[in-house]
Amino acid sequence: MYVKSKILFNLNKLSFYLIIYFVMLNVCSLEAKKSFKGRYEQSVEEMYDADDLGSCCLFAGNFINFGWWNSYSPDLVISLDERLESEKNLYRLVLNHLNIKSVDHILDVGCGKGCGCILALEEFGPQKIQGLDISQAQIKRAKNIYQNFISNNSNKIAFMQGAAEKMPYENEIFDKLLSVEAAQHFTNLQLFVSEAYRVLKPKGKLAVASFFGTLDHSSSLLADLIQTIHDGIDHANSIIMFKEILEKEGFKNIEIINLGQNVWPGYDKWVSQGDLSESWTRNWYVGYQKGLIDYYLITAEK
Ligand SMILES: C[S@@+](CC[C@H](N)C(=O)[O-])C[C@H]1O[C@@H](n2cnc3c(N)ncnc32)[C@H](O)[C@@H]1O
Repeated sequence: MYVKSKILFNLNKLSFYLIIYFVMLNVCSLEAKKSFKGRYEQSVEEMYDADDLGSCCLFAGNFINFGWWNSYSPDLVISLDERLESEKNLYRLVLNHLNIKSVDHILDVGCGKGCGCILALEEFGPQKIQGLDISQAQIKRAKNIYQNFISNNSNKIAFMQGAAEKMPYENEIFDKLLSVEAAQHFTNLQLFVSEAYRVLKPKGKLAVASFFGTLDHSSSLLADLIQTIHDGIDHANSIIMFKEILEKEGFKNIEIINLGQNVWPGYDKWVSQGDLSESWTRNWYVGYQKGLIDYYLITAEK
């Protein structure tokens, strides 16, 4: 009798622990799913609102782009100054292709924290530049960081929150429009292009720098490699498709310049030096080496 009740007691104890174990297992996996959702099932806007990516170790000086690298040595450690210079150089390259004049009114779509706009104004001397970004937080950051500059140049620079696909501007007010490493986020490239066409003056010029897929189905092939493509935050839209959209919307003299060789190896070398050297971020270079993705500057005229 005693032995029987002892066995029963132990069995009850065992089932109690088993129940606790399965409840805990469920709670943990629910938590994991919740945090996965919180991290990845967010919009681009929410991501840039929540995370100040410009302060992340991958970037420097408030810019948020892979950079254009022309002078680093693959055998030497890249300094923070060189990293910052690479990001500025990407902007300089784009701005150089816009042939900016002192009377020009310029729009930077996806301006981030506004540093590219300041660089454009200081180094290229247009009459005015406007920075547009979908993230309210990015616009707020830009206004905070450059508070003094903005108040000293209030007739030359302005930042506004809004989407590339629905720009908050009247028709035909800009001479030049640039977008640096933002087009990969746009949910509808066709709407962006038709909006760009609408806000540009006749003969106005557009310059877009970003990564694009080399194949129609690059995005699906890259989803296993690149977390943000998997999550729909970044899109590896086909470069051919982008050219077709530009033509369809009426842009002329479309030029596609491949920047890959000056973007991916330098960026990968920079990432390899830091805390994220073992992370999926290294896979951008893998995707490039596999021929699935590349970095382009696309220019066109209205
Ligand atoms: C990678 S950052 C580039 C920022 C800046 N151009 C630079 O090179 O430092 C991309 C920026 O595009 C903005 N963005 C993403 N989707 C957008 C959209 N549909 N319309 C306007 N801005 C957008 C993001 O909020 C973010 O600030």
